[in-house]
Amino acid sequence: MERLSLKDLREQLPVTEEVGYFQTGTYGPTLSSAVKAVTDAMEYEALHGPARPDTRQYIMEKEEAARGHLADLLNVNPEEIGIGSNTTRAMHRVLRSFDWGEGDEFVTTSLEHVSTADASRGLEQERGVNVTVVEVDESDAAFIESLDGAITEETKLFLISHIASPNGRIMPVREAVDVAHEKGVPVLVDAAQSVGQIPVDAQALGCDYLIGSGPKWLLGPMGSGYVWVSPDQSDTFRPYFTPDVGAWSKPGAPVAAPTARSRAEFGTYNHPLVIGLGQAVKTLMSVGLDTIRDHAADLSKTLREEMQDTPGVNVITPLEPGKSAGVTTLTFDGYGEEDMQGLVQWLNDERSILVKAQWLTAPLQLDKIGMRISVAGFNTEEEVRHLIDSIRDGIRR
Ligand SMILES: Cc1ncc(COP(=O)(O)O)c(C=O)c1O
Repeated sequence: MERLSLKDLREQLPVTEEVGYFQTGTYGPTLSSAVKAVTDAMEYEALHGPARPDTRQYIMEKEEAARGHLADLLNVNPEEIGIGSNTTRAMHRVLRSFDWGEGDEFVTTSLEHVSTADASRGLEQERGVNVTVVEVDESDAAFIESLDGAITEETKLFLISHIASPNGRIMPVREAVDVAHEKGVPVLVDAAQSVGQIPVDAQALGCDYLIGSGPKWLLGPMGSGYVWVSPDQSDTFRPYFTPDVGAWSKPGAPVAAPTARSRAEFGTYNHPLVIGLGQAVKTLMSVGLDTIRDHAADLSKTLREEMQDTPGVNVITPLEPGKSAGVTTLTFDGYGEEDMQGLVQWLNDERSILVKAQWLTAPLQLDKIGMRISVAGFNTEEEVRHLIDSIRDGIRR
């Protein structure tokens, strides 16, 4: 595979000439190579006709290669991945595979994205499911112990983020998976904030399902996301009413075994988008996920040290080595929602810097708001220095 540098990566993101882009945890900018892959494929289809055999062949080859890149990144088989439109829907595909009923339990953590909190409410209201939220406090050991106590005979599924959305904490996923599996409970890992930010090996995590996003840290096209299903769960993964033998199967002809891909994807979809997602993954792999992680860690160290030295600013992201990556969340003494939104807006308007006013809990607690800063592989030290100076100026303004 061609090697690319961090500088090459940045050159594929013209938006970096306009703003200090620290919002990759929300939406990363799309790499120009990914945009080109999507538009080239769409133009090809339009020009040559999507239904023509040669066009289908051309698009299919590109698409299979794209799926291969995503599978390589996660260290899994392409047929184990279902590509769709976002992380939330990928999560619902997994949830819908379970036959939820009154008294069943869904276990999750206090650091999940709002989409999980919403799904939990849906499960409670529509199916009478009991939801247990395990508090994540300072130590991983205390969390693992609480998790152990929270999983019961009634627990059907445990969901945990790999990197927590509110504060960038890297969760002890492998240990959590072991605890759940000991009790026979499958685990869904929400990797929306980790894949593309740090190396992620789905098999090594040991989980049963992993979901993620195209446009965040993968810098891929909007409207792309995916679910990976471990081979152990492929039989039970049934998000939709899909038969094992299709209605147009010829009598007596061999039938391909259903896969996570075939159960998650059917009907017409946007092939160029999948091709663009694969191109983004390929580009990041050409730079190297280790290189991206290490660069973001270096810049984040500077940011955190400087912010810790700034009166009135608190770094709430865990600082111990290995407990966080490129996300840093800050709180500001005395800042409520309006103050935080005001500062974020000022940074955008006056300093061309993009950061996020981030609710720290789901469900909402109005006094818990922070500033989430996503430092990615394409960010530079100069940008981080400008951000530090600007936050200091902004809180004094
Ligand atoms: C951890 C996590 N899970 C899920 C989501 C939802 O992602 P999507 O917009 O792709 O549905 C996000 C979005 O920020 C997230 O951070």
